[in-house]
Amino acid sequence: MAENQQQAGNPAQWSSRFAFIMAAVGSAVGLGNIWKFPYIVGENGGGAFVLVYLACIAVIGLPIMIAEVMLGRRAGHSPIGTMAAVARAEGRSRGWQGVGIMVTLTAFIILSFYSVIAGWTLPYILRAVGGGFSGIAAEESGALFDGLLASPGQLLLWHTVVMGLTVLVSAGGVRHGLERVITKLMPALFVLLLILVGYAMTSGHFGEAVTFLFKPDFSALTAEAVLVALGHAFFTLSLASGAMMAYGAYLKKEVPIVRTSITVALLDTGVALLAGLAIFPIVFAYGLAPGEGPGLIFVTLPVAFGQMPGGSFFATLFFVLLLFAAWTSSISMLESLVSYLNEKGVSRVKAAVGGGLVAWLVGITTVLSLNDWSGFAPLGMFERFEGKTLFDLYDYLTANIMMPLGALLTAIFVGWKMKPEHSAVELGRWHRLWFPVVRYLSPIAVLIVFYFNLR
Ligand code: PHE
Repeated sequence: MAENQQQAGNPAQWSSRFAFIMAAVGSAVGLGNIWKFPYIVGENGGGAFVLVYLACIAVIGLPIMIAEVMLGRRAGHSPIGTMAAVARAEGRSRGWQGVGIMVTLTAFIILSFYSVIAGWTLPYILRAVGGGFSGIAAEESGALFDGLLASPGQLLLWHTVVMGLTVLVSAGGVRHGLERVITKLMPALFVLLLILVGYAMTSGHFGEAVTFLFKPDFSALTAEAVLVALGHAFFTLSLASGAMMAYGAYLKKEVPIVRTSITVALLDTGVALLAGLAIFPIVFAYGLAPGEGPGLIFVTLPVAFGQMPGGSFFATLFFVLLLFAAWTSSISMLESLVSYLNEKGVSRVKAAVGGGLVAWLVGITTVLSLNDWSGFAPLGMFERFEGKTLFDLYDYLTANIMMPLGALLTAIFVGWKMKPEHSAVELGRWHRLWFPVVRYLSPIAVLIVFYFNLR
């Protein structure tokens, strides 16, 4: 089978290095870059936080991404199958398959709520197209957003649409589904983003945004912010969720893993920074607050769009961009599970529909967490989880526990359990640099964060 997979026309493999890069960047670039990154930068004081985040990407995120892509390509299976196969080949315990199971579950839980948030973009697109933001005041914009969250029916509808779009592409398979759609959406996304940055440059407040993003003020940095930065580095690079491992499995042997992973990490980081450069000039130009929080782009930006010339056009571009970004990420979240079921003999169509359906059902609990069940805190008896809804718990469990744990175990596996000669074959001359980092630095850094997070 390994031989077969090398054939150029294999529909279960990316056709080119470019296709892999687009798919991996499609996975990495998502709500994390355009929705979350700007608002956590805003909340954590700007430049110093950005610097710490960049360091986390370079020192911890990138080495682990390389590890995941390498493992996936070496075995060529789903994340569960890959962990089992590589552990066996290395003479290690079958228990390592558990890492594959955990990351698949992580992706699945994230997908269930991610699809709900991604769905928010749809009513915003419709409203933007109809010019519905023109002249909108801040309170009105806040009320619109609150109104959306308060309506289980609306949220469910949009959640259903996003999950449907995700399943549709996933069911089409690697080359005919994922590659075909993602290689069109991603370039479109880059163009849309550049147009928005171009507009932001004319806002008269571009310099202010550059200063905010790039001039570090370390007095604004807290220990908590460092934890947020590392957690976000995992999330934004789609690590410890099987996405990169699953996509790595479809990569041809001749593609250089380290250089390709660096490109993916750079593009992901570039998009996050560009999103900041598109959003903050507008925030500053209209006297809005950068520390607004999760509502930053849904509450704050419409006010600005409503005042600027051509606002409907830019608002439409912006929310379409967000939808594309979230869609290509959702597709990758489903891939760990779909590839596993596929390996077990379930057809891709059945696997995608079945997986999507269960994630959709679980997603309903997130829909309700935002309104009818907002007072329901299932683990409220523990102080740490007081007031946390089911949605909050999914987010907490995946971001603070499952992702760091998955990343830690991956680093331990490649750094201590796998023979360095074997990873050297896959990585070439970069191995000498990568190996000590993933063996010592990455696990220690993750452990430190874990300690502070769970303290
Ligand atoms: N990286 C995506 C984002 O930033 C989220 C993601 C997490 C995608 C895990 C796949 C797997 O939005």
